[in-house]
Amino acid sequence: MAVRRLAPKEVQPASFAFSAENLAWAKAQIEKYPPGRQQSAVIPILWRVQEQHDGWVSEVAIRAVADLLEMPYIRVLEIATFYTMFQLEPVGKKAHVQVCGTTPCMLRGAKDLIEVCKHRIHHDPFHVSADGNFSWEEVECLGACVNAPMVMIWKDTYEDLTPESLNRVLDGFETGNLPKPGPQIDRQYAAPVAGLTSLKGEAASSPKGDKS
Ligand code: FES
Repeated sequence: MAVRRLAPKEVQPASFAFSAENLAWAKAQIEKYPPGRQQSAVIPILWRVQEQHDGWVSEVAIRAVADLLEMPYIRVLEIATFYTMFQLEPVGKKAHVQVCGTTPCMLRGAKDLIEVCKHRIHHDPFHVSADGNFSWEEVECLGACVNAPMVMIWKDTYEDLTPESLNRVLDGFETGNLPKPGPQIDRQYAAPVAGLTSLKGEAASSPKGDKS
């Protein structure tokens, strides 16, 4: 995984202000926690800030979150740099593709998905495509190994991918005809690909005399 640092000064905006809607939302999150525990709201608020700011969190935004939650700046910076769900530099306007490169996904073809990103978006991760619409990175396990290989784009996962189906997913983001998240093959959630393999027989009848 790449070292996660704040974006260089040249791309950092001079200021950040919560939108009125997001500030009201953030305050409502804080109220969910007992007095003095407002810091527990840091992750959802950082996420909302990221959504407000074109998919990434800037240094001033991190400071604004810390001020709101009365946290030391360094604590919020630690969180933003630890979790790969937070982007620290500008990303593609239409999609930032996070390709899982951990063992189960690698064994199932993640390298081919990375090749798609290299050819279609940019040879290197964390570089925005020439049209500004896409960027990509390799991340560690995103928890959908059962349907490997997979990618995450914004909040959703796209699973059981091949290079062809990943291209279709990206086409959807390109055209605004957003693809359905989840398995990109005929599989229900994480059920076996070929259908049920257990619990297929008749339900056992109740023992005699059992009136339940
Ligand atoms: S290894 Fe890719 S989702 Fe877990």
